[in-house]
Amino acid sequence: MMIDKILKECSSPFYLYNEERIKDKISFLNNLDLQFQRKFNFAVKANPNLAILNLIHRCGFGAEVVSAGELFKSLKAGFEPSDIIFDGPGKTEFDLKYAITQKINSINVENVEEIKFINDYSLTKGLRTNIGIRINPNIDGSTMDKITTGLSGGKFGISIDQIDFDAISNFKGINLKTLSVHIGSQITDYQKLLGSYENLIKIADEQNLKNNINIDTLDFGGGFAVLDHSNKKINFESWKDNCNKILEGKNFNIIFEPGRFIVADSCELISKVLYIKESGEKKIAIVDCSFSEYIRPALYDIKPPIKVANSSKKTGIYDIAGGICESTDYFVKDIELPEIKVGDNIIFMNVGAYGSSMSSTYNSRPRPLEVLYNNDEYRVIRSRDTLEDLCKNEIM
Ligand code: LLP
Repeated sequence: MMIDKILKECSSPFYLYNEERIKDKISFLNNLDLQFQRKFNFAVKANPNLAILNLIHRCGFGAEVVSAGELFKSLKAGFEPSDIIFDGPGKTEFDLKYAITQKINSINVENVEEIKFINDYSLTKGLRTNIGIRINPNIDGSTMDKITTGLSGGKFGISIDQIDFDAISNFKGINLKTLSVHIGSQITDYQKLLGSYENLIKIADEQNLKNNINIDTLDFGGGFAVLDHSNKKINFESWKDNCNKILEGKNFNIIFEPGRFIVADSCELISKVLYIKESGEKKIAIVDCSFSEYIRPALYDIKPPIKVANSSKKTGIYDIAGGICESTDYFVKDIELPEIKVGDNIIFMNVGAYGSSMSSTYNSRPRPLEVLYNNDEYRVIRSRDTLEDLCKNEIM
């Protein structure tokens, strides 16, 4: 079996991706019976590994980026500039200049001041830059507070009453052709998404009645939930039917920016038990990965699905902890698992999205190996940091 071979040949901790799974998720979206012009742009922040990006590019997706770094990596991975969208509430001048000169599909602004900067810089370069405006719709996505982005009072998007569409249409260095929205991540209630789409359609229709405005693209963001810490699933059948309904007779190009949905469940983080400690009433398995390698449980209080690679019939109640010198460095507490021995592999599932991408080298731990496999072969797509890598850019 491929997995057994990989477990034997690669040393933990490492991220292990299933290529077929990513392709399946992409085909699922590509084959939905959506009766309008649309493009899926992968949210690179979910997983910016070059091999993953290149795979997703080859499956026909575009990219959604939020920094010069993500733009650079996306171009390197093969995405055409015309298939790249740049979002984000805090773009720097460097980000904006780079995005402008690469002539990407759209820079979606989230601050009124960005508009003037893009206009002026584009004019100095003899360019006219396509922009979008991210609207803050004041819609609650009913997801976890820490990944909610659609509410007034938050830092995302611009509230409609602050946008001077007439003034924008007179700028010669920009072309406003997109409106965008993104109300949060891990959204299970498709009606919340629909509400944000309808709001955008209404604004675009109203603005397009004016002679000098032609909004032809609506970017509906990402947010599709996966089975994870929530056991609710998004109802794609109803989502699709309703999308078709609200867009019937309309002529917009639609963009979706899924991140998590594409990669989350394609990946497992393989760790090994270093020690089993009895402390008070507790049995604690200390593994060789930590919140440096996977921070979501510590940051969002989610419980990652876990499996143990052994066939013990007896079970025990465990806390699973990392080796970082901090008391938040636990993956899960009080979980019943097959009896664990030192050396067993503990496997954290559904870690393909915001797993490796949010990892750090805290405690000067080398960032882990990443491995991609399909039915025939496996290969390393990121080598483990060396100890020298940890000193790179530092001067003594
Ligand atoms: N578009 C925009 C403008 C976004 O801000 C995001 C995610 C996406 C698309 C993709 O959302 P997705 O389809 O992946 O839900 N680190 C958190 C998630 C933060 C998401 C940030 N924005 C986590 O680990 O749950």
